[in-house]
Amino acid sequence: MIALSTLLLILLPLTACHVKVHLHARADNATASSAASDQPKESTAPCVRGNNIGSIYVTQPNISSYVFVGNNAIVEWRYSPNVKNKPKTVDIIVYRESNPTTSQTVIVGGLDVSNGATAWRWHVNQLPAGVYKLHILGKKVAVIGAAGGIGQPLSLLLKLNPNVSSLSLYDLVNTPGVAADLSHINTNSKVKGFKGADSLGEAIAGADVIVIPAGVPRKPGMTRDDLFNTNANIVQSIGKAIAQNAPKAHVLIISNPVNSTVPIIAETLKKAGVFDPRRVFGVTTLDVVRASTFVSDIKGTDASKTKVTVVGGHSGVTIIPLLSQTGINFTQEEIEKLTHRIQYGGDEVVKAKDGTGSATLSMAQAGARFTNSLLEALEGKKGIVEPTYVYSPVAAKDGVAWFSTNVELGVNGVEKIHPLGELSEYEKKLYAEAVPELQKNIKKGEEHANKA
Ligand SMILES: NC(=O)c1ccc[n+]([C@@H]2O[C@H](COP(=O)([O-])OP(=O)(O)OC[C@H]3O[C@@H](n4cnc5c(N)ncnc54)[C@H](O)[C@@H]3O)[C@@H](O)[C@H]2O)c1
Repeated sequence: MIALSTLLLILLPLTACHVKVHLHARADNATASSAASDQPKESTAPCVRGNNIGSIYVTQPNISSYVFVGNNAIVEWRYSPNVKNKPKTVDIIVYRESNPTTSQTVIVGGLDVSNGATAWRWHVNQLPAGVYKLHILGKKVAVIGAAGGIGQPLSLLLKLNPNVSSLSLYDLVNTPGVAADLSHINTNSKVKGFKGADSLGEAIAGADVIVIPAGVPRKPGMTRDDLFNTNANIVQSIGKAIAQNAPKAHVLIISNPVNSTVPIIAETLKKAGVFDPRRVFGVTTLDVVRASTFVSDIKGTDASKTKVTVVGGHSGVTIIPLLSQTGINFTQEEIEKLTHRIQYGGDEVVKAKDGTGSATLSMAQAGARFTNSLLEALEGKKGIVEPTYVYSPVAAKDGVAWFSTNVELGVNGVEKIHPLGELSEYEKKLYAEAVPELQKNIKKGEEHANKA
């Protein structure tokens, strides 16, 4: 066993969001309990992507160490003997994956940016003595329902996202194949597939963000509420697993009916005592994406720059586009036609797919967009605003606890919920129509979650 003093670990105290950092040095083959007797050093460090969280000075070879970052990250560091290279300074960007037994995030390797080579464990082993800057890059994202129509393209888009370092794909079927396929894409994240209910806990342990497109989609003639009976139980069981295995994760719910599935997950987390309203989101981005496209279709604007705020919920009359706030002039006829198309745009896809499902590709893009916005906000970027269905004071006076408006996202999730702003008379009417439907949908979800 190698003396611990042969490795000197130093953290540079830095500014920003002050994660507490514990450093333990331990010898090869040391057990977790022997590590506990090591002398931890503490410091504060920023938790923003790409920032240094400190430096590791390796003075002697042949050392293993584990670095604990806050309560949720460990770097396994091995250093092999007989390295002749001259000491040099390199940046090591570390990647993380979950540790199923401890629910901690494990940093398993890194990227030596000095020569551009990927440095997973075996490469890290080769590092010569020197000074290494330790970076945390990206977040762990889990997709639940990853083998489905939405799940697969969503997972593809997340595999391409540099803000994701670890992608965990869970479904009841086919995830090993999806994960193996995606894992060949040469982006700097690790993909792992988990299949079957027994592996759900492991799949989500340590996740920063959990995106849920699990459940059945609509067939022609169905409303989203018709999916309630099947999807309510699915999301409830996922909510229980989150409460147990990833209570600090940000939970993004795509499964329909969103107006009810979000309160189901929230109530499930509440029952377990781990509900934080800043971390539960109904993904309504597709309504916003559609609204931008449909407005640009008739006005000839650049669809990618046309911003339409859509508030309320995610089904039929609960979808309220605020066209009066776009700065674009519409006739009343245009407003009514556009509003109807935005409210029932999903039906166009369900009908065209003729019984084979609902929106999957556009939903994957919308889901990836929202996930990326949240990841950027979690990593410290300011001023990120997305409409999303959250626990909100905006319609509380009308007995509606969950409501979508523009929400500023931050390092803790929901940072600031924007008010509705000024509504036209027509939009006030839409709001009044949405309220009773939302009340009903939310109550139905809460009652489902709370029945014995
Ligand atoms: N929020 C939105 O804007 C929006 C848009 C479109 C679709 N949706 C909804 O998203 C959901 C998924 O749609 P899809 O087209 O991908 O359906 P799909 O049937 O193609 O895929 C669903 C996947 O979920 C998996 N699944 C089922 N039960 C599961 C469980 N208990 N745990 C994990 N995975 C499970 C299935 O095996 C399947 O792979 C539907 O409820 C649909 O209505 C929401």
